[in-house]
Amino acid sequence: MRMYDVIEKKREGFALTEAEINFLIEGYTKKMIPDYQMSALLMAIYFQGMSTDESAALTMAMVRSGHIVDLSSIKGIKVDKHSSGGVGDTTTIILAPLVASLGVSVAKMSGRGLGHTGGTLDKLEAINGFHVELSTEKFVELVNKNHLAVIGQSENLAPADKLLYSLRDVTATVNSIPLISSSIMSKKIASGADAIVLDVKTGAGAFMKTKEEAKNLAETMVAIGNTVGKKTVAILSSMEQPLGNAIGNALEVQEAINTLKGQGPKDLTELSLELASHMVVLAKKANTIKEAKERLHENLHNGKAIEKFQAFIKAQGGDDRVIHDPSKLPQAKYIIPIYAEKSGYISKLVADEIGKAAMMLGAGRQTKESVIDLAVGIILHKKLGEYVQKGDSLYTIYANTPSIDLVKKKMKQSIEVSNVQMADQLIIETIE
Ligand code: URA
Ligand code: CA
Repeated sequence: MRMYDVIEKKREGFALTEAEINFLIEGYTKKMIPDYQMSALLMAIYFQGMSTDESAALTMAMVRSGHIVDLSSIKGIKVDKHSSGGVGDTTTIILAPLVASLGVSVAKMSGRGLGHTGGTLDKLEAINGFHVELSTEKFVELVNKNHLAVIGQSENLAPADKLLYSLRDVTATVNSIPLISSSIMSKKIASGADAIVLDVKTGAGAFMKTKEEAKNLAETMVAIGNTVGKKTVAILSSMEQPLGNAIGNALEVQEAINTLKGQGPKDLTELSLELASHMVVLAKKANTIKEAKERLHENLHNGKAIEKFQAFIKAQGGDDRVIHDPSKLPQAKYIIPIYAEKSGYISKLVADEIGKAAMMLGAGRQTKESVIDLAVGIILHKKLGEYVQKGDSLYTIYANTPSIDLVKKKMKQSIEVSNVQMADQLIIETIE
């Protein structure tokens, strides 16, 4: 087989065979195919696309390029969740203990990543002592005992995806639906998931800005999952405005704790219940979404969800007093309330711009080497469509420096108060 022929075939719009896809992923991982040829192929895929069978073959070839986590010693169906990313998205920290409280086994691999705030791991590390450096044996033991444990992402998880992503990043080929889909799905499948729930975001704060693109991405990932025997469901949800009220690491942990006690923001609670109920049904712990949602809602209010979170924190070395005592989380030095300059409805609350403001405070990583400030961030007091009175508190900045003029300026550009009452539909569609 020659790489030249594979490139030419894709350039002309023909579907590649599984053998050809295996050849190019193995060849590239072993450095037998040079970057310039792979770049040409990626650009051909960018323009010609891939069929479901091709995307599924690409996904599985990337899964096989590294270590595949074996969760077979954990009882039951392991369901993983993935979010296509957003601003202030704390759902993983809520979902994991919430579904575990109904007996779903959550064996979660989590990463740090770049972005407006840290990843799930960074957020959890805002809890003093909490760590994810577990041996595989300990990890499995904790999941079997508590139904929940989180471990850091293995270095050798789908290495072909890492190599390809770096190349896509510098050849303007990141934004291709089959390439994004197989990249995301390969990591979930290599992490040992039996079934997958995807939260695909659309809107200002999302990777996919339009509903059509997001739907296409969701449908492609669901088709890949179902082709390779991993039942997959996707929820299309809005990331026009940040999710919940808190954007920042410790602030989001506090928000997750409130939500697990049944006192969370309405949108965050609603999306968490929606995603969680699909996880519960896929794990066969409830027969219908309606039944799952009712029982999950109950556990948010009867203490079972927060108890599960507490047991999880304790089992991984964390100070579980945070459950009752927010002062145990990292605290910002300066807490600055900002007031509305006029009355009206919140008609713009631009998620990605607010994310950037949080990043300017130090809540996120610009590069892999950046150090995150876990204490800082923003808490919104009003969301899209809500009425604000001149002089009402609009949001609060949590900073570790008194000079926040640029952050305030960024926020001012991101929030609009007018006489237009906007409605933001949070859950747009379920794709299965
Ligand atoms: N996230 C991923 O994991 N992969 C992509 O290709 C894009 C976003
Ligand atoms: Ca939030």
